[in-house]
Amino acid sequence: MSTQVENRPEARLPDWENTRPTKDRYPEIDTPPIPIEAYVSEDFFEAEREKIFKKMWLYAGRMERLQRPGDYFVNTMEVLRTKKDGTYPSFIITRDDHGQVRAFYNACKHRGTKVCWDESESWGTSNRKYFTCRFHGWVYGNDGSLKHVPDEDQFFDLNKAERGLTPVHCAVWKDFIFINVDPSPSQTLKEQLGEHVANLKDFPFERLRKTGIWTATMNVNWKVAIDAFQEGYHVATVHAGTMPDAFNGSLNPYCRPTSIRVYPGGNRSLTFMVSPDYKPDELEMWVRQRGANWYAAAEDGSTNDFVGVNPENDPFFAFDCHGIFPNLLVDPFMGGFYGHEFWPISVNKTRWVGSINFLTPEKPSDILSNEHGKILLRDAFREDTVTLDASQEGIESGGLTDVVMCDHEMAPRHLYNTVMEKVNS
Ligand code: FES
Ligand SMILES: [Fe+2]
Repeated sequence: MSTQVENRPEARLPDWENTRPTKDRYPEIDTPPIPIEAYVSEDFFEAEREKIFKKMWLYAGRMERLQRPGDYFVNTMEVLRTKKDGTYPSFIITRDDHGQVRAFYNACKHRGTKVCWDESESWGTSNRKYFTCRFHGWVYGNDGSLKHVPDEDQFFDLNKAERGLTPVHCAVWKDFIFINVDPSPSQTLKEQLGEHVANLKDFPFERLRKTGIWTATMNVNWKVAIDAFQEGYHVATVHAGTMPDAFNGSLNPYCRPTSIRVYPGGNRSLTFMVSPDYKPDELEMWVRQRGANWYAAAEDGSTNDFVGVNPENDPFFAFDCHGIFPNLLVDPFMGGFYGHEFWPISVNKTRWVGSINFLTPEKPSDILSNEHGKILLRDAFREDTVTLDASQEGIESGGLTDVVMCDHEMAPRHLYNTVMEKVNS
C-alpha cells in the first residue's frame, strides 16, 4: 500500500511544506536582501556594458534566417555602443557564397556610413550577393571582402584586401548564432554556455520555425525584465486573466518550479508543472488533442521526440525555462520552444523580443493547435510586460533600498549574483 502511495506522481514533488528545496540544493548561495543599486545606478549599467556585454557571446539570431548562401539579417545592439550616450551599432550576419556564417560591423570602410539600412528586426531574412554602401557606392561581397571602389585610382595606396568589412567573432550553437565584439574573447561560445546546455544537445531546435514574435520597449532595467520571466511566483496574480488554473492548482498554488538548477557562469534552468486538476475548456481540449500548443505534449503523443526537456523527470511536466547568461531565455516544451531576448538600452530601458516556435505544420489541425497556443502565449506575454514599468518605478522611487527574493526566485538571484561577480571582477 505504501509503495502505491510513493509511486503517485505528486509524491515526487518537492517537500515544500518542510523545506526550501533550492536553498537546500545550493546551500552555498547566500539569501540576503538584494540592494537596488544594480537596477538603478547609471554607473553600474556602464560597468555591465563594459564587463559583460562587450566581453561575452551574445545571441544574435537563429540559423533559420540563414538558410541559403547570401541570406543575411541586420541586428542592432544598443548595449554595445562605444560611448555612453552614443549611437547604436548594428551588425550584418550573413551566410556567404560558400555557406559560412559570418558577422561584421555594419560600417563602411570608406568613411564609415552604415552599409545595410534594414530595420533592426528579430525576424525575416534578406538575400544579397553584394552589399553596396549608399554614400559613395563601395561594394562588398557577402563574405565581407571589398569588391569594388568607384574611381579607385584617385585613392592613395588603397589596398582593397585590407578594407573589407570589419569582422566580429561569430559562432553557432545548435540553431543559435552568437557574436562577440571582444577582439580576443576570453572563452569560446562552447565554454561560455558550459555544462548547462548539454541536456539540450538533441532538442530539435533546427526543425522549429518562428510562428509568432512580439517586441516591446519598456522602461525597466534589463535584469528586472528577465526576472519576471524566470519565476512562477507571479503567475497566480499576473496571469489570472489568461491562465487562472493551469499552473497554480491545489498541489502547487504558488506555481513554484518543480526544480531549479543554477550553473557557474550565470546560466540557470527551471522546470514548471501543469496542475493535474486543470480542466482546459472545450476548445483548448480540442486543440491539445491534435497538436502542439504552448506547453506539455500533444495528447496524441506525436511530439515525443522533443528530447532534453524536463531534465529531472519531474511530475506533471509543462515546460522548462533556460536562462542563458546574460540576456537570453529559451523555454522548451514537448512540441516547440518559446524564447525571450532582453536588450538593455539604458539602466531603465529595455527592448524585449519574445517568440514561439513550432514544427512546420503538416496538417490543418497542427495550425489550429499552434495558433491557439500562440495567441494564449501572446496574451500572457502582454500581462508580463505591462507590470515591468511599474516595477522599475517602485524600485527607483526612493522608498526602498533593497528587494527580497524567496526560494523559488533563485534564478533571479543567480542572475544578480553573477552580474555582481562580473562587474566586480
Ligand atoms: S562611406 Fe561608404 S562608400 Fe563612402
Ligand atoms: Fe509570466
